[in-house]
Amino acid sequence: MWSMCRRSVKESPGAGLVAADTWPILPRKPPAHPIRAGQGSARNASRVCSARLVDMTAVAVPPLRATPGAPFGLYLHVPFCASRCGYCDFNTYTPAELAGQPGSTVAGWLEALRRELDLAAQTLEAPAVDTVFVGGGTPSLLGADGLAAVLDAVRANFTLAPDAEVTTESNPESTSPAFFADLRAAGYTRVSLGMQSAASHVLRLLDRVHSPGRAPAAALEARDAGFDHVNLDLIYGTPGESDDDLAASVDAVLAAEVDHVSAYALVVEDGTALARRVRRGEMPAVDDDVLAHRYELLDARLSAAGLDWYEVSNWSRPGGQCRHNLGYWNGGQWWGAGPGAHGHLGAVRWWNVKHPNRYADELAAGGLPVAGFEELDDDDRHVEQVLLRIRMRDGLPTALLAPEELRRADDAVDAGLLVRSGENLVLTDRGRLLADAIVRDLLAD
Ligand SMILES: C[S@@+](CC[C@H](N)C(=O)[O-])C[C@H]1O[C@@H](n2cnc3c(N)ncnc32)[C@H](O)[C@@H]1O
Ligand code: SF4
Repeated sequence: MWSMCRRSVKESPGAGLVAADTWPILPRKPPAHPIRAGQGSARNASRVCSARLVDMTAVAVPPLRATPGAPFGLYLHVPFCASRCGYCDFNTYTPAELAGQPGSTVAGWLEALRRELDLAAQTLEAPAVDTVFVGGGTPSLLGADGLAAVLDAVRANFTLAPDAEVTTESNPESTSPAFFADLRAAGYTRVSLGMQSAASHVLRLLDRVHSPGRAPAAALEARDAGFDHVNLDLIYGTPGESDDDLAASVDAVLAAEVDHVSAYALVVEDGTALARRVRRGEMPAVDDDVLAHRYELLDARLSAAGLDWYEVSNWSRPGGQCRHNLGYWNGGQWWGAGPGAHGHLGAVRWWNVKHPNRYADELAAGGLPVAGFEELDDDDRHVEQVLLRIRMRDGLPTALLAPEELRRADDAVDAGLLVRSGENLVLTDRGRLLADAIVRDLLAD
């Protein structure tokens, strides 16, 4: 039986080994924040990590400083969705959930975001920004004008590096050729679209509101508008999905000529409508053996078409890797702005209050909207490096491992789960299916 690691530290929300609920990590879904401790391996990561957590209101975070010369990213969280997909536990709100709460309008959120970016720039003395990632939620609900205003707020407070990567997530149903043309003109360089599947019965089960063909069509529209970098997200292992369904989804992705694909094993998150349906026996739980088989199918088809894995749940053409997410996975530095966003600077990880009303209130009162933080010590940092870097195709540098860990790594090499590549340890094809278990073994005391 495979014990497959699920979601991963994906795009967006930068996650960290935060014991909060918003980050991304393994072949599973993306972070709403960099190492998101809300998903699959990310969760495992947060259990392994022994960081000291503080969670309170009006939190006095330790001094936040950017390291000069090191790449710096901004993650901006848009907490709005038109409706909620049954599997999703991201920090996002529908109009019905926000009704009657004046601080939670798009205008109120944008005003608060401007204030946070202003405070961030003052705190950090405005380092040049190498990557911006607008994630959600559904950023495309803001329209191209709203997303241009978000980028204007960044430019009003920071200098964008000349070759900055500027990504926005978008839902296929709220895009059009004019939307992409306006986004490109506003300065966005990359678009990430949630496709999930090309099978209508799978989309229905996931509560997706777009048609099977809309996401690939949107990707082509984005390319026609001048976007060289376009990602499509897939979810695999949904109950009722067949091998043929997944193969057809991959074929549709390939026909859209994107340069990046993120594919996540479906995670049944506690507290979601999907979890309630599984609990009531209305649908089967996701099967680990099926997930492993589907991952192999995906990987074989993508790599045969020239999209190679560079992180366990991410594939790209040469030059198509997401620089913002590489920052998360390489322990880089970023500020996360917006409700529930996470940031990481030096040894400090922190996260904002989650509710848009509260977020706006804290900023209107003149303070940073921080809900909690953790300071990572050397052990925490070590766990995080092993957890994240082993998932990457470049591999985990052996220099990071203690002698006892190196001995355990040799066992994993003998078992065919890792290979040595120069001074690094790289997951084999089989090892990619077992990344979480390999990390646990390496770090075992
Ligand atoms: C939070 S969404 C934001 C993007 C956009 N709102 C959308 O849905 O297309 C980012 C991606 O996370 C992935 N995701 C979210 N929840 C997941 C889950 N429970 N299991 C697997 N993947 C998930 C989906 O692939 C989704 O496209
Ligand atoms: S549209 Fe995206 S962020 Fe919104 S509920 Fe669905 S998966 Fe979550």
